[in-house]
Amino acid sequence: MAEMQQIVLKRYCEGPPVPEDFALETAALPEPKEGQFRVAHVWCSVDPGTRSRLSGGDSYAMALPLGKPIDGFSVGVVDASQNEAFPVGTKVFCAGGWKTHSIQSGRGFIGKVPEAPVPLSAWIGVLGVPGLTAWFGMKTVAKFKEGDAVLVTSAAGPVGATAGQLAKAWGASKVVGIAGADSKCEFLTGEAGFDAAINYKTASDLTADIAEHFPKGVDVLFDNVGNEMVNRVLPLMALNGRICISGQVADYNLTPEETPGIINTKPFITHRVNIQGLVVFDFAREFPEALQTMASLLASGKLKSNEERFDGIAAMPKAFCGLFRGENFGRRVVKVGEEA
Ligand SMILES: NC(=O)c1ccc[n+]([C@@H]2O[C@H](COP(=O)([O-])OP(=O)(O)OC[C@H]3O[C@@H](n4cnc5c(N)ncnc54)[C@H](OP(=O)(O)O)[C@@H]3O)[C@@H](O)[C@H]2O)c1
Repeated sequence: MAEMQQIVLKRYCEGPPVPEDFALETAALPEPKEGQFRVAHVWCSVDPGTRSRLSGGDSYAMALPLGKPIDGFSVGVVDASQNEAFPVGTKVFCAGGWKTHSIQSGRGFIGKVPEAPVPLSAWIGVLGVPGLTAWFGMKTVAKFKEGDAVLVTSAAGPVGATAGQLAKAWGASKVVGIAGADSKCEFLTGEAGFDAAINYKTASDLTADIAEHFPKGVDVLFDNVGNEMVNRVLPLMALNGRICISGQVADYNLTPEETPGIINTKPFITHRVNIQGLVVFDFAREFPEALQTMASLLASGKLKSNEERFDGIAAMPKAFCGLFRGENFGRRVVKVGEEA
């Protein structure tokens, strides 16, 4: 019998996830039915937002039941098809999960990989959901304007690094990133072209350091970290400043009771600050245009991205858990199959 492999949730996570929360399973290789096709995944991603489904309680996404495969993005090749639009051999990116194969119908988050001189794995990285989150978070949610002074948190991650680089490319007066290692800060001010970077783990007074970089206030806060960071930056926002809540990586591991509230609310009135959360899939119709532009930027070397590659589906839990310890330097992708 032909087989596939997948990683399932073995027990609910408490606090930061550990590899023991997950199990590797072998299952029968599924066959596509009428209208469906099967994707043999080559690369799968690990994403911090996945954590929000792993505690057993609903958040903005429904809780994942025990024993079910973990969500994630995949890029691979159609290897069996009953759907004329996706014949065998088509390269696609999709929400395939932590699996070697997935059955797709052509609906939901799925697309054909466009011809472009970029690695296949980029389509679940800077040209996948992280890049799109950066694009729509900065452009549509934060309503970026030329001349804005921009602060990005978790800035060396795939979302943050892309958000800062797009802001620079679109004419920001200043882009400052916050990250948790000197090597990450060096990447931001070097290759990624940020104007400055702050290591929040070694800063003696992070708020004062941020304030020093923004004498006229922060026009855009692109936050990937969570409420404590938002509380810290709110009093530093400029008049008509905008905050995009992209992610809450520091809060995903906390219970609702442990999660800090937003308390520094006066600037909402005094400085007319706007705060808005992002769900990138709200902008799905506009993805192709954004991807085309970002693919050109990436191919021409104007958009930089770091990728960390792991080998074998069994490595997925370890790759995922490291995201919550700051171990990743850019997008983490796991090779689960061959491209040919
Ligand atoms: N809204 C949407 O539609 C959408 C879509 C996709 C992703 N997202 C969100 O976007 C954010 C960024 O995603 P990403 O893929 O680029 O991941 P990422 O920023 O690389 O996330 C991992 C990094 O987060 C930082 N981190 C981990 N725990 C932390 C803590 N307790 N406090 C502060 N920083 C911590 C670490 O970097 P340091 O070493 O710098 O601390 C770590 O390397 C995530 O929160 C994700 O959920 C949102």
